[in-house]
Amino acid sequence: MSTARSHWSTRFAFILAAVGSAVGLGNLWKFPYMAGANGGGAFVLIYLLCIAAVGVPIFIAELYIGQKGQKNAVASFEATHEKNTPWRCIGFMGLASAFIILSFYSVVGGWILDFSFKSIFNQFAGKSDEEVKGFLGALFESPWTQVGWHFVFMTGTVGIVLGGVRNGIEKWNKILMPTLFALLGVLFIYSFTLSGFSQSISFLFSPDTSKLTAAGVLEAVGHSFFTLSLGMGAIITYGSYLKKKEGLAKIAITVAFLDTLVALIAGVVIFSVVFTHGMEPGGGPTLLFQTLPVLFSKMTGGYILAVAFFLLVAFAAFSSSVSLLEVAVAYWVETKKKDRVRTTLLIGIVIFGIGVLSALSTNVLSDVKIFKFTFFDLFDKLTSSIFLPLGGVLISLFYGWVLGPKAIEESLSLGKKPSLMKIGLLWTTRVLAPVAVMIVLVKGVMDF
Ligand code: TRP
Repeated sequence: MSTARSHWSTRFAFILAAVGSAVGLGNLWKFPYMAGANGGGAFVLIYLLCIAAVGVPIFIAELYIGQKGQKNAVASFEATHEKNTPWRCIGFMGLASAFIILSFYSVVGGWILDFSFKSIFNQFAGKSDEEVKGFLGALFESPWTQVGWHFVFMTGTVGIVLGGVRNGIEKWNKILMPTLFALLGVLFIYSFTLSGFSQSISFLFSPDTSKLTAAGVLEAVGHSFFTLSLGMGAIITYGSYLKKKEGLAKIAITVAFLDTLVALIAGVVIFSVVFTHGMEPGGGPTLLFQTLPVLFSKMTGGYILAVAFFLLVAFAAFSSSVSLLEVAVAYWVETKKKDRVRTTLLIGIVIFGIGVLSALSTNVLSDVKIFKFTFFDLFDKLTSSIFLPLGGVLISLFYGWVLGPKAIEESLSLGKKPSLMKIGLLWTTRVLAPVAVMIVLVKGVMDF
């Protein structure tokens, strides 16, 4: 086990990569449609609370386990505790999650690539609303187009991970992340000029608690996990490439802050466009693929806006998908001492294969139902509502109870003196976060 591990070149490079992992389809696609469907402000408020009270503590826990363990998502549990500890099963479940999440994430990534090309080739312009809306249906009905784009997306992800931590993941994040922030900044400034801007702000930021449902609250807790890439070892893996002696709490707060900022700004931009044209915010998952293209096709500057927007989403999706693939690659390369290039290619092919089931869920396999779900929905539900929350509960308990106060002192680097932060983190990871996430988990299991 003495092969030297790569490390991020700087702390900043690590933060970029962690933000790259966190900011993805979860922020730009899922968050806006969930907020829209759950009435806006009240959902956003609960989401913010979850990020602070559940997301940040578990983020610190994962970072600590990775950084202290300096190994992959399975072996880091052993390195921080003891050899063959049963807690390493969290890592195995994480590996399963990596395969499953990436398989359908890549299919949605493929839709984004398809829409990026459509926008670059100006295909929304001069079409009727029905025609523009029809693009998504046509894509869904065509097995080849969907599998093809899924292949392109996986190839891109594999291509980045092949380069390794420094020359692949770090290098690409240094290009993708600043571009993403620049594009988002431009879109945000543009949204000030839209007449729907103020309505968008009040929709997202003035909570109307009467619109909140129990299901909405649970969705918010679950999403706080997905959006921060928690519960399956992605942050453990990234944290393991961090040199020892970095203040973890600050890093966790920075990443959570930037991730939330991106989600909120994306929400403001999207709903400004929606309200400017008097459309309904509750469009659901098709918001990004039907509502927005229709609006882009009508707006002055809509061409540029559409291209910028879909490229933004594509970049965000790539920087997240690499973090999912790296979890599996790091495990096989380190534990089984396999060659990195061959392992990456092989895992990429397997995940591509599993993803084909999701790509065919809207056409050839649409009638195949497992527990009443298509493959696509099954994979999404199984991971977002069961594996990730379960992983999160266990990671939190492992950190709070098994590693305990010493780990917390080290994570916060405050030394031994008692402090409110220390007690806060101890009891959030011991009780508050596990209980909150358990409730989501029970609901997830009941949905099956
Ligand atoms: N956080 C990413 C998003 O919001 C998705 C993601 C990347 C992820 N890595 C993960 C989700 C690990 C769960 C676990 O799109």
